[in-house]
Amino acid sequence: ADERGTSSGHDALDVLVEGLRRLEYRGYDSAGVAVLSNGSVGFRKKAGKLLNLEQELGERPLPPSTTGIGHTRWATHGGPSDTNAHPHVVDGGRLAVIHNGIIENFAEIKRELVEKGHEFLSETDTEVAATLLADTYNDLGDQDLTTAMQVACRRLEGAFTLLAVHVDHPGRVVAARRNSPLVLGLGEGENFLGSDVSGFIDYTRSAVELGQDQVVTITADDYEITDFHGNPAQGKPFEVLWDAAAAEKGGFPSFMEKEINEQPAAVEQTLMGRTDPDGNLVLDELKIDESVLRAVDKIVVVACGTAAYAGQVARYAIEHWCRIPTEVELAHEFRYRDPIVNERTLVVALSQSGETMDTLMAVRHAQEQGAKVVAICNTNGSTIPREADAALYTHAGPEIAVASTKAFLAQITAAYLLGLYLAQLRGNKYKDEIAGILAELEAMPAKIQQVIDAQAAVKDLAQSMKDAASVLFLGRHVGYPVALEGALKLKELAYIHAEGFAAGELKHGPIALIEEGQPVFVIVPSPRGRDSLHAKVVSNIQEIRARGAVTIVIAEEGDEAVADYANHIFRVPQSPVLLQPLLTTVPLQIFACELATAKGYDVDQPRNLAKSVTVE
Ligand code: G6P
Repeated sequence: ADERGTSSGHDALDVLVEGLRRLEYRGYDSAGVAVLSNGSVGFRKKAGKLLNLEQELGERPLPPSTTGIGHTRWATHGGPSDTNAHPHVVDGGRLAVIHNGIIENFAEIKRELVEKGHEFLSETDTEVAATLLADTYNDLGDQDLTTAMQVACRRLEGAFTLLAVHVDHPGRVVAARRNSPLVLGLGEGENFLGSDVSGFIDYTRSAVELGQDQVVTITADDYEITDFHGNPAQGKPFEVLWDAAAAEKGGFPSFMEKEINEQPAAVEQTLMGRTDPDGNLVLDELKIDESVLRAVDKIVVVACGTAAYAGQVARYAIEHWCRIPTEVELAHEFRYRDPIVNERTLVVALSQSGETMDTLMAVRHAQEQGAKVVAICNTNGSTIPREADAALYTHAGPEIAVASTKAFLAQITAAYLLGLYLAQLRGNKYKDEIAGILAELEAMPAKIQQVIDAQAAVKDLAQSMKDAASVLFLGRHVGYPVALEGALKLKELAYIHAEGFAAGELKHGPIALIEEGQPVFVIVPSPRGRDSLHAKVVSNIQEIRARGAVTIVIAEEGDEAVADYANHIFRVPQSPVLLQPLLTTVPLQIFACELATAKGYDVDQPRNLAKSVTVE
């Protein structure tokens, strides 16, 4: 769920609907708005995508206003219905509240409120928070919505961003945050709140990051931040480095296609400015004591979804370059299994949004055990890099399509930089070796572009396969996480059964799935790599071909050994094996995007998903 509020000179509804459109990628089960006008709260809310709300607003317009709140939801408590949609309007229509997160003690608070005579319309935790706020406001009796918010928040447990407007306070929005995102946008004679800056990027690039357990009150000309006890508090100002155009489709049919095409730039920008004039790798943002980094004896990478596959790629590179044992674990599994972590452990949290709750909880757990945490993140002002001991930003620009593409490549790139930096610091690699790998990395954007330029053939194949019932993906070494990512993309976008396997594991079970006509993608490592990895994968291709599979091979230019066993072959430029995922992933993204489009699905907003999952 996501929200934005405004108190501005523009018409509130226009600002809200446009902002929700930009934030819709965060959740799209239902949407709603509330505005303050002529001493009353007007509101509309609808299940389904934003379009439904816009239709409703067309049929039943709201009056002009300069103050309002809006929300787009990813259902947690209670299904996606009109009633469960936000805002929740309580206290006889006097107070409207929207919420992002989960309030864990809502049942207990609800019981108390029911005893006091309050009635509830929905099953949601949000209505409980709204009613608690109204009750607190009325009990305090001093007509101070900010104080009421502070007092109410002290009762709430869990994760929440709350925004409220009240008929007693025209021109004012009061908000609070704990464990959920909230940023403030400072305009001229107008101020904004949003779950991220894209909610108000049309109006200002000047933003303030709110801290944990803070309440903020905005009017058109002013804002005030406090903690939950009313003490003055500070936010952290920052400038947004991209503009509204970066969050537009720019002529592409979907954000996903646009973002696939932006991958050369995403990798290039992530690499930019990372060396000093002497050719040493410098990661200025890595503000962890060098002595601590030298003493690290284990690295644990935590992440979810696509970011976790970037983490798997990172492991191969970091272990190879740094000789530090490296584990990769899904953040939600790591958090709840009593992992062995201490002061000598470096935890690397990978997250595009910087808001994934599972990853955030893993970060906190690691820090409690004394570990230092580096966040690799794409979103300035988000929670994970703020709480981490250091942050290494990927500069991929805003990623809007729910299924990650350019952020994935940027995460891998940043993880390579981290690995090389640790190797440099700990003396595992000589300066010229590091310079050599950096030069190879710097050549990658142009090579990614070559893969993109050859996309027509991949798209043709995708079109011809739109009725496939199941697709398998095989890879070894760094090709294994690429296979997993290829399968995930197809599941997410095209709702096709797809699975990725380690190619060596095939004979231990999955080969039973192979029958006549089964399409199988195989990611083939460079024949110039070590340990006859290439030959092993070529054998695996032969094994499945012999059993009737239709083989779709991603292989390097000049690799002739695979050609005989491939029904289809897509070439990628030559590169060191460890860097190959930056190339081999790209045809798989294009394939999934095109196939889903051919089936008529919305590739930017696949069913049931959200881009930033801020619940556990
Ligand atoms: C969600 C998205 C995925 C994403 C994952 C991790 O599940 O649908 O595309 O990979 O979250 O997101 P993060 O922002 O932490 O990288």
